[in-house]
Amino acid sequence: MSTGPGQGWPDRAGETPDDQQPDPGPGETAAEAAPSGHANWGSTTSGTAENVGYVPTGGPAAAPAARRPNQGESELVREALKDAKVSHETSAAAPKSKPGGADRDWPRPARCRVVTIANQKGGVGKTTSSVNLAASLAMHGAQVLVVDLDPQGNASTALGVDHHADVPSIYDVLIEDVPLADIVVPAPEIPNLFCAPATLNLAGAEIELVSKVARESRLQRALDAYDKDKFDYVLIDCPPSLGLLTVNALVGGDELLIPIQCEYYALEGLGQLIRTVDLVRSHLNPTLNVSTILLTMYDARTRLAAQVAEDVRNHFGDVVLNTVIPRSVRVSEAPSYGQSVMTYDPGSSGALAYSEAASEIAHRNGEAT
Ligand SMILES: Nc1ncnc2c1ncn2[C@@H]1O[C@H](COP(=O)(O)OP(=O)(O)OP(=O)(O)O)[C@@H](O)[C@H]1O
Ligand SMILES: [Mg+2]
Repeated sequence: MSTGPGQGWPDRAGETPDDQQPDPGPGETAAEAAPSGHANWGSTTSGTAENVGYVPTGGPAAAPAARRPNQGESELVREALKDAKVSHETSAAAPKSKPGGADRDWPRPARCRVVTIANQKGGVGKTTSSVNLAASLAMHGAQVLVVDLDPQGNASTALGVDHHADVPSIYDVLIEDVPLADIVVPAPEIPNLFCAPATLNLAGAEIELVSKVARESRLQRALDAYDKDKFDYVLIDCPPSLGLLTVNALVGGDELLIPIQCEYYALEGLGQLIRTVDLVRSHLNPTLNVSTILLTMYDARTRLAAQVAEDVRNHFGDVVLNTVIPRSVRVSEAPSYGQSVMTYDPGSSGALAYSEAASEIAHRNGEAT
C-alpha cells in the first residue's frame, strides 16, 4: 500500500500561479503587500516567494519590515504568553531505517507518534492542519490515522469519510467502549490514510463523559488497546474548547501541535491552553510534549501577521515550524469536495506549504535521535 516517491506530491517546478492573495485592502500599500526581507523566504527551489506565499524563516533579522506594535498589541501578546512554558525536548522516537527505500528522505518514526492538534480558539486551522498534514505524510508513504474528535465532523468531511448519525464513530469508542478498530475507515482519496470519524452524537459526549470511569483517559485507553503501531502517525483533531474531549486528546497524545492563526485575537487564550497542558502533564500524562507550533492563515499583506509571527517565534523559539501556512483560497475550497488541498490542488501555495510543514515534522522526528 505504499506510495512511490512523489506520488501526488507537489512539484515545485510545475507550480501554478497562486490562487489567493487578494488585492491589498484599504490602507495597505503595494509596498506593504510585498515587504522587504525576502532573502530567507521558505526553502523553495523554484517559483517566487511571492507566489508561494511563505514568510521569512530566519527570525527577526529576516522578518519583513514591520509596523511597531501599538501598546495594546504588545501587552496582549505579553499577557497571552506570560506564563506559557514550553518544553523544547522531544518525545520523538528513532526513525525507522529505510535505506534505499522509496521514502528515504522522509524518516518514519520507529513507533507511532500520536500528535494532538489543539487550540481552544475556534477557526485557527486545527482541522485544516490535521487533514493536510496527515495527507502529506500519507502521500510520502507513512501510515496515518486521523482521529476526528470534534462533533462538527469537519475532518471526516474533508477526508471524504461518511459521518452521518448512524456511522460507527469515535463517540461509540469513548462512550460505549467500542474498539477503535471497529470504527476506523480508509480515506477514499489517499492510500495509507485512515480516519476515525466523528458524528453529531459526539456533541453529547462532553456531558456523558462526566459520569464515566476514567473520563479523561478513555481515548488513551482506546489507543492503547488498538494496534496503533501499525500507524506511523495518529493525528487527533480537537474541538474548539478545553473540555473533556480536548483533555482526552491531551491525555492520549505524545505531542501537542498548536496551530496559531497569524492575527491579533489568535493569541488570546494561548496562556490558558499551555496552563491546561501543564495540568494534564502533572496529573495525567507526564510525557506530553508541546512539540510543534504552526503559524496558519498568514496574510503577507498585513504587518500585524508578521508581527504576531515574530512574537510567537521570539517566545517559543524552534518549537515553531519554519514553514508558515499562507491564506489560500484553494485550502478553504478543498473540504467542500471532500478532499485535502494536497489532492484538490497540489500546486497551490497552501498545498506546498502544508507539504513543507509535514516534511519538517517528519524530519524533526529524525533529527531528535
Ligand atoms: N490557509 C488557509 N487559507 C484559507 N482559509 C483557510 C486556511 N486554513 C483554514 N482556512 C479556513 O478557515 C476556516 C477555519 O479553519 P479550520 O476549520 O481548519 O479551523 P479549526 O480551528 O478547525 O476550526 P474549529 O475551531 O471550528 O474546529 C475554514 O473555513 C477553513 O477552510
Ligand atoms: Mg476544526
